[in-house]
Amino acid sequence: MTQLPGLLDVEAIRKDFPILDRQVHDGQKLVYLDNAATSQKPRQVLDALSEYYERYNANVHRGVHVLAEEATALYEGARDKVAAFINAPSRDEVIFTKNASESLNLVANMLGWADEPYRVDAETEIVITEMEHHSNIVPWQLLAQRTGAKLKWFGLTDDGRLDLSNIDEIITEKTKIVSFVLVSNILGTVNPVEAIVRRAQEVGALVCIDASQAAPHMPLDVQALQADFVAFTGHKMCGPTGIGVLWGRQELLEDLPPFLGGGEMIETVSMHSSTYAPAPHKFEAGTPPIAQAVGLGAAIDYLNSIGMDKILAHEHALTEYAVRKLNEVPDLRIIGPTTAEDRGAAISFTLGDIHPHDVGQVLDEQGIAVRVGHHCARPVCLRYGIPATTRASFYLYSTPAEIDALVEGLEHVRNFFG
Ligand code: ALA
Repeated sequence: MTQLPGLLDVEAIRKDFPILDRQVHDGQKLVYLDNAATSQKPRQVLDALSEYYERYNANVHRGVHVLAEEATALYEGARDKVAAFINAPSRDEVIFTKNASESLNLVANMLGWADEPYRVDAETEIVITEMEHHSNIVPWQLLAQRTGAKLKWFGLTDDGRLDLSNIDEIITEKTKIVSFVLVSNILGTVNPVEAIVRRAQEVGALVCIDASQAAPHMPLDVQALQADFVAFTGHKMCGPTGIGVLWGRQELLEDLPPFLGGGEMIETVSMHSSTYAPAPHKFEAGTPPIAQAVGLGAAIDYLNSIGMDKILAHEHALTEYAVRKLNEVPDLRIIGPTTAEDRGAAISFTLGDIHPHDVGQVLDEQGIAVRVGHHCARPVCLRYGIPATTRASFYLYSTPAEIDALVEGLEHVRNFFG
């Protein structure tokens, strides 16, 4: 097996992921390279989920019986784990949501209903970028349409980076919020947070960071980022689906209004009006995703047991190797940075004029799972004049041999389509 400096003990890690032993299409070994879409789950997370349902299942914050107290302790314990994982100053700054999309929609709606000084209205501007996932575009389009605010965005350079050359014209005194992705799900680009935050702070704008493709892959420190909100999802970081996180600065969460109303988020209710529970409960209406939060807590324990620095180093080594090997494939064009510098482990490419859906299908026949399409980031495809891409994305259990299999598989695709 190819050895690269910085790799984890992948053989040991892969034993924790039962699905990675699967065969597909009558005996093909599964090569799972669709980790940016969702990660696989280790036994430790699967066990935590079944243990929760087998031993502790009850609704949280509402019961006086043993199970209710234990379930509440597990759910709130998961909040503690998330807070420590992202270095949040307070556990009360961690809001559980359904996914990153819900987290980002929550921010947009908080600002839409807020009073001054946070209110987004027709006199104000919202800033995003052309490399956002649809979940960090559509909520802001909706907010702009509903309030009359102007939506602006940073464009992209030919090599897949943010074009910040006009930063002072894009982020202005009118900007209320700047929301951008830390690591692009389609281009793999790691964005220069500091420069954007500095400018946003100069004009008094809030900053929201979509960390969905960062939280699974690198140490995440919300204090170092100096953002106001950070959103991510559990299922890309070894956790279950149905659980997302919004971290927000405490004073903002205290000042901003709730979005969804219902049980759990109130202090008192009369037929005329209601008062609200303090954050984070103010933003968690209804029965929350309890088992999913517990599963996310187990995923965080698992990732911590390996070490986020080590996971980052492993993926960086794989990305360097993959970029080098893919650059050697005839007719292959990487869409995004063509080196591993400031780049995450999702690599999108086109292969001559073979449609990505055909590439994906022929790879699938060989057991290789990649994602094809616009990856919910269609403006990126429009920017680079392509209908779609094929995307391979790696994680802590990915191996150089899987990258070799991808490269061989692409050779097969080229032969297949002549
Ligand atoms: N956001 C996920 C992806 O990039 C679904 O594939």
